[in-house]
Amino acid sequence: AVRNFSKSAIMANAIKNVTVIGSGLMGGGVAQTFTFRLAAQTGHNVVMVDVDDGVLSKAHERISTSMKRVAKKKFGDSQEEANKFVSDSLSRLTTSTDSTASVKNADLVVEAIVENIDIKQKLFKQLDEAAPEHTIFASNTSSLSIQKIAQNVKRKDRFGGLHFFNPVPVMKLLEVIRIPETSQATIDSMLAWGKAMGKVTVQCKDTPGFIVNRLLVPYQGEALRMYERGDASIKDIDTAMKLGTGYPMGPFELSDYVGLDTLLFIIEGWAKDYPDEPLFKVPESLRKLVSEGKLGVKSGEGFYKYNK
Ligand code: NAI
Repeated sequence: AVRNFSKSAIMANAIKNVTVIGSGLMGGGVAQTFTFRLAAQTGHNVVMVDVDDGVLSKAHERISTSMKRVAKKKFGDSQEEANKFVSDSLSRLTTSTDSTASVKNADLVVEAIVENIDIKQKLFKQLDEAAPEHTIFASNTSSLSIQKIAQNVKRKDRFGGLHFFNPVPVMKLLEVIRIPETSQATIDSMLAWGKAMGKVTVQCKDTPGFIVNRLLVPYQGEALRMYERGDASIKDIDTAMKLGTGYPMGPFELSDYVGLDTLLFIIEGWAKDYPDEPLFKVPESLRKLVSEGKLGVKSGEGFYKYNK
């Protein structure tokens, strides 16, 4: 029967059990996508891990609510089938606060914890000792070096980046990142798994920001510098980029949506590692807004004001 499977189906099949570590915005989204796309249909399992029990119960509740909604649409005429789909899928989603115990059966670990290099390095060192030999490790980092995250890990040939986008269930793109040691078999498994998750995959080397953020963050920085020079207003820059390029949001609206603290954190990190790159200079106006607690949509004010 094997000859009936495409190569990518066999590869995706190799990843049956996934452990997602860090179940906040991104990790919760990865677990939701996995549960919906793969759990019941292919008999795959996912464990959501977090240090915070409250995060886990919230993520589980969110996934279960959205599964019920989707199942209702999918099996509109049969309540019984819908219920079966939801319960079969959810039976393959478990939660844990113990990251080392939760990787014992993992084929793939997707890390989506706080964006802090020391904490990520420490986590992967522990996981390296706890996980089976074949387990592939991946980080969902937006701005840190995959190579640095993998520093204390022996299985560097089974290490890479899997960079999802927010909101994970909606955004189609998945960036698959390799370090020099990543084996082709690991890349092939990650690509096949990404496809099975319903994503369109692109590949990139371990370079700051990979493809999307390497182009987007300097663009946001350039918009800020343009405003700081007094060349144009915030509103006119946003209007120009929306109507002149067809982008759905202008650079300031996008920055407010992402969170100005997150944007500042990314630029500051790159500025430190690449002090001679003018595109990675930290815009003063960004520093000022963040120091005033103006973080964008989430705090009610950034470049614009929002109703909370
Ligand atoms: P978040 O704050 O929503 O979630 C992070 C979770 O990790 C929290 O629930 C926290 O309790 C947990 N955590 C922290 N340390 C832990 C540890 N040692 N073990 C287990 N759990 C731990 O953050 P978010 O936005 O989901 O980001 C997570 C990662 O994803 C970061 O590396 C970030 O750069 C990356 N990312 C974020 C995107 C975004 O749009 N927010 C987009 C793409 C990547």
